[in-house]
Amino acid sequence: EKGGWSSFMAKEISEEPEAVAKTILGRVDDRGTVTIPELDGLDELFLDIDRIVVIACGTASYAGAVGKYAIEKWAKVPVDVELSHEFRYREPVITPRTLVISISQSGETMDTLMAVKFARESGARTVSICNTQGATIPRESDAVVYTHAGPEVAVASTKAFVAQITALYLLALHVARVRGALSAEVIAEQAAELQAIPDKIAAVLENNDTIEQLAHWMADTRAVLFLGRHVGFPIAMEGALKLKELAYIHAEGFAAGELKHGPIALIEPGQPVFVVVPSPRGAQTIHSKVVSNIEEIRARGARIIAIAEEGDVAVLPSADEVIRIPLAGPLFEPLLSVVPLQVFAMALASAKGLDVDQPRNLAKSVTVE
Ligand code: M6R
Repeated sequence: EKGGWSSFMAKEISEEPEAVAKTILGRVDDRGTVTIPELDGLDELFLDIDRIVVIACGTASYAGAVGKYAIEKWAKVPVDVELSHEFRYREPVITPRTLVISISQSGETMDTLMAVKFARESGARTVSICNTQGATIPRESDAVVYTHAGPEVAVASTKAFVAQITALYLLALHVARVRGALSAEVIAEQAAELQAIPDKIAAVLENNDTIEQLAHWMADTRAVLFLGRHVGFPIAMEGALKLKELAYIHAEGFAAGELKHGPIALIEPGQPVFVVVPSPRGAQTIHSKVVSNIEEIRARGARIIAIAEEGDVAVLPSADEVIRIPLAGPLFEPLLSVVPLQVFAMALASAKGLDVDQPRNLAKSVTVE
């Protein structure tokens, strides 16, 4: 039931802190050791693999794209992220040392199910990340890591997305431990960062007024662009997808570094652009490059809404609006920066009088290929 909320989507966004906390529960001990009990007995497999392929569709694929950064950094295994429907209809190189990780909220998405079956038949080992107990995809996989976001009713995926990133990060730390790729100390530090995320999401949710007002002002907007870099890139893609599916507005996400390779031609006076700004405490070069991107598009008249961490003053001269997120380690920013983008799409769709839970032409679970 919706409780006191105006929509399932509003309710589900409010449940994001809990979705992350419950997904972590029972997988990090008092000393900060990350062990996913469902992966017990797979140590040999994790020691043997030389490559990971993540397969998923839509929002789940953007969670996978975020996860790639963590798996490569922590577990030091190369990762490719593929759309399920593209993976299956070519001749991907799969060996017994390939681990295929599927991500699906429903566990019933036909494109992903067929890709998992194909991967198994081709000799890969398969792990599924799924939010629905006993669904078909986990049953077809060698192992499953459940996300514990609770049932997601709204067609647009929100709380499942943050839970999927959480599960991927736990998986990355689990594999890093087994492979000896990280020290116990570093694993504990990262686990503590993850455990701090639920309270930080709750803080973001308390500051929704600016983004909701913005959505009301922008109800007549025809096109919105989203820019991000590093883990902010898949977040830009996800922000654009949310706006397309909920508000029926043409929206595109880009890697900020691609701007000068084409998309900057789209910038004309008044064009709204959301920019997911990486922390200045992380890789300095990435932060300053994104700030330069903001200045470049500002000079061409773009209207800039920056999602930036508290205290980042570099964005102030060029951004029209700044949405603040609490400080977090660089890899953890996506779990915070996606929230205002979800709220924005929902508020804009509501301002247009649209049904945010049941957007036109879409189904919650896509059970045909
Ligand atoms: O159930 P799944 O996670 O496999 O669904 C995958 C996509 O169909 C899904 O994420 C879709 O993109 C959502 N409508 C996005 O909000």
